[in-house]
Amino acid sequence: MRLQGKTAIVTGAAGGIGRASCQAFAREGAHVVAADLRGEDATRVAQEIGESGGSAGAAEVDVTNADSVARLVRETTKEHGRLDVMFNNAGIFPDADGSVTDTDESVWEQVVNVNLRGVFLGCKYAVPAMIESGGGSLINTASFVAVMGAATSQSAYTASKGGVLALTREIAVEYARAGIRANALCPGPTNTPLLAGLLADPQRRARRIVHIPMGRLAEVEEIANAALFLASDESSFITGTQFLVDGGITAAYVTPE
Ligand SMILES: NC(=O)c1ccc[n+]([C@@H]2O[C@H](COP(=O)([O-])OP(=O)(O)OC[C@H]3O[C@@H](n4cnc5c(N)ncnc54)[C@H](O)[C@@H]3O)[C@@H](O)[C@H]2O)c1
Repeated sequence: MRLQGKTAIVTGAAGGIGRASCQAFAREGAHVVAADLRGEDATRVAQEIGESGGSAGAAEVDVTNADSVARLVRETTKEHGRLDVMFNNAGIFPDADGSVTDTDESVWEQVVNVNLRGVFLGCKYAVPAMIESGGGSLINTASFVAVMGAATSQSAYTASKGGVLALTREIAVEYARAGIRANALCPGPTNTPLLAGLLADPQRRARRIVHIPMGRLAEVEEIANAALFLASDESSFITGTQFLVDGGITAAYVTPE
């Protein structure tokens, strides 16, 4: 029970990584608030956890909306008295996000709004609540693309994830002595609906797989286990990191056949 007595919010909870993380956190004793734009799907995640003996509630939230995020944190602390873990995980990856010359401004704004502003707002409202709780763990989902470039461009997505790394470091440094840790979780390609468009195209799929030394995608539980470690006191001396869970992608110059 590595999160016994802790209260955790997970955004993007109805998606692949979010749902698996809600389940992992609840299994380890946390009360989980599953938050997503798709409120009904978040409710289903909370119900599944309840049915398997865990403790969870759900909230409909738009991470791009300050009032919505502020309400999420306020209601969580009101109901549970504390906030220990904030997993800012909601993100989007639209097909229209491409090379810098092709990507429409509206796509850029939409992606940066969800992936970066959403993380900013999650941290902005979680930090005061964590200070009140005597400390906490912020986990912000970035990506391996935040640390390396790809020939198949996704300019807005990559830029937004780079911003998540930089923001997370700043927060980590500023609040370390207040007992708040902040880490950027950087998954490699993971088997979730987010990648469905890319994976449906055999050529794009092959281009992704060829760069992964392990020769496969991550499963959501493998990313959730990393989030669990960062959420728990087992990572008590870890802050400001880019925590790569990427099957070796960033270690490789070339991959074996
Ligand atoms: N799947 C991958 O290969 C991969 C790799 C690296 C990083 N990531 C990142 O991991 C995170 C989770 O991705 P996933 O693969 O589970 O995707 P997913 O599409 O399965 O889930 C994303 C969730 O975010 C929610 N969401 C979108 N916009 C929102 C908003 N404005 N407010 C609240 N919720 C919103 C969606 O409803 C969805 O449930 C994302 O930040 C993504 O960028 C994914």
